[in-house]
Amino acid sequence: MSDVLCIYYSFSGNTRRAMKEIAQQLDAEIVAIDDGADRNGFSGFMSAGRDAMRRSTAPLKPFTTDKPIEEYKMVIVGSPVWAGRCASPIRGLLKRRGLEMSRVSYVITRSGTRRCESVYDQMDLYTKEKHMFEVSLQPGSVGYAFWRDKFVGDVKQYLEENNG
Ligand SMILES: Cc1cc2nc3c(=O)[nH]c(=O)nc-3n(C[C@H](O)[C@H](O)[C@H](O)COP(=O)(O)O)c2cc1C
Repeated sequence: MSDVLCIYYSFSGNTRRAMKEIAQQLDAEIVAIDDGADRNGFSGFMSAGRDAMRRSTAPLKPFTTDKPIEEYKMVIVGSPVWAGRCASPIRGLLKRRGLEMSRVSYVITRSGTRRCESVYDQMDLYTKEKHMFEVSLQPGSVGYAFWRDKFVGDVKQYLEENNG
């Protein structure tokens, strides 16, 4: 049973790919969440942006983890950036379960060149402790693998130094 939980939402697959790569390198459990909303097409895109702007959330579909969330040595939360914010299903997760997360780190994926680092502070509003490590990935960019691997290295070093 892994000590690291990678939990994420992904609409178009970028965050899923990043989280799978990270989970593989950390030998972590990986769980996808979903609120069941239909975000296809132009109206889906608009409603996703509107939900993110308004900070509105919907109940999540049930999901399971191998052990209680507070027992993981590290929980890594992955979200796309929507309108400069975290995706609403991730806000929904953090609103409902964030107080179970004390050792938490963030992976965000984005399409623009701006790193959107204010998203981390928004996510920290819901967690028991402020996050430890973070990375903002732009899929397809030159620095993608470098920043992903630096994040993985930081988490590994922390886990090694706090073994047991
Ligand atoms: C509704 C919506 C709003 C978005 N807003 C931003 C944004 O503010 N900044 C940005 O860099 N990318 C933005 N994007 C692009 C996504 O963050 C980016 O493509 C991300 O990697 C998608 O992740 P996913 O494939 O896991 O869903 C937005 C995408 C959507 C659907």
